[in-house]
Amino acid sequence: MIKMIELPYTLNSLEPYYSRETLDIHYNILYKGYVDNTNKTEEKLAKARLENDFQNIKCLERDLAFYGSGAILHQLFFENMGVPVPTMPSTKLMEQINKDFGSFDKFQNQFVEASKAVEASGWCILAWVSKFNKLEILQCEKHQNLTLWGCIPIFVLDMWEHSYFLQYKANRAEYINAFKNIINWKVINKRFEEITLV
Ligand SMILES: [Fe+2]
Repeated sequence: MIKMIELPYTLNSLEPYYSRETLDIHYNILYKGYVDNTNKTEEKLAKARLENDFQNIKCLERDLAFYGSGAILHQLFFENMGVPVPTMPSTKLMEQINKDFGSFDKFQNQFVEASKAVEASGWCILAWVSKFNKLEILQCEKHQNLTLWGCIPIFVLDMWEHSYFLQYKANRAEYINAFKNIINWKVINKRFEEITLV
């Protein structure tokens, strides 16, 4: 059984860049839904194994990928946001960004454009791809489509409308620009450090 993470800040801590109302709905209703549905899917899979009844297996495996990935990405998302205090990539992460994207500005430009261009509901993700030994930016549709196997997300931006529409309406660019103020690079640096220590 998976559990929700505690928010590492209060609901109004990300104001004015990410409103209390949006965060409240996003965390307490939507994220909770993904965690609950992941657990329900696991229960249904256990029941199917117990009863040796796999007539719904295709649907259950799909639900596991969708709800499970939703739970994981939302956990990463809430953790890589923080109070609006400027933070930056560590020296080690910045060196990797420079190596893989040319410069921090070029990384940011690609990330912003990829975020704006996410089709329908999805995510923009900075991930470490160990098989390539490099960082990549990925667009993700829904929560589970368009990935590279073995990638480890270190920074994720929720591009589902529920993450910005209440506050920014259809202006994705304004949401992304505001989001830069609440990225917690300390958390992202730690994730990168832990991955590359392995
Ligand atoms: Fe979301």
